[in-house]
Amino acid sequence: MTSNFKKIGIIGAMVEEIELLHQHVEKTGSFTKAGITYVEGKFHGREVVFCKSGVGKVNAAVCTQLLIDGGVDCVLFTGVAGAVDPDLNIGDIVVSSSCLQHDMDVTPLGFARGHIPFQDVSEWQADASLVELAIAASERHFPGRSVQGKVLSGDQFIASRDTVRSLYEDLGGACAEMEGAALAQVCAMNEIPFVVIRAMSDKADGSAHVNFAEFTVEASVNSHKIIDDMIQHM
Ligand code: ADE
Repeated sequence: MTSNFKKIGIIGAMVEEIELLHQHVEKTGSFTKAGITYVEGKFHGREVVFCKSGVGKVNAAVCTQLLIDGGVDCVLFTGVAGAVDPDLNIGDIVVSSSCLQHDMDVTPLGFARGHIPFQDVSEWQADASLVELAIAASERHFPGRSVQGKVLSGDQFIASRDTVRSLYEDLGGACAEMEGAALAQVCAMNEIPFVVIRAMSDKADGSAHVNFAEFTVEASVNSHKIIDDMIQHM
């Protein structure tokens, strides 16, 4: 064991993203709050709590706060995303270096895109030790197929070449999804370390809806492999 985390929180947004946790965590209990069920158990001998947040930033924020209130001392996210970095392919892995809300837009008042007015931080840094664990896990399972990068979150499914290009060129994103920055913000507000692991289900372009339907299960499996490996090395 290399970390002191006593209780590890794991969130996925959709059924597919937590299905393998249901299969492999040795369950010891569960509780439900705000309509979200938190499953408690042991995974590779470590105490974990996992849950399905539901899609979008509000679901992710509520879920993360309740998970933290339940006593976890770090939060991992496992799931799928649309690739924004053009070098990424379906199945590849993004480990969050940071998270930003791409749909936070107060530009008419002179704030930069993604910037939340009147607060110091709008882009939250993931925990360095969790990032290191995730990258090491990723290199063991998918050598040369992972990047550490900025996860962009918004309440939008990105499915357009122009939009995805702007997320890359204007915001420097590695991937686009719908929960990570909400989780990151709540973790930062509570001083809880986090990392977001995302496997690419699509390329956030005109084919994204078709690819998402075809590759979500496969990408979820890839993301789960990273979580599984990380917990064995935590
Ligand atoms: N999750 C998976 N693919 C996505 C996309 N293209 N946009 C937003 N969230 C996603």
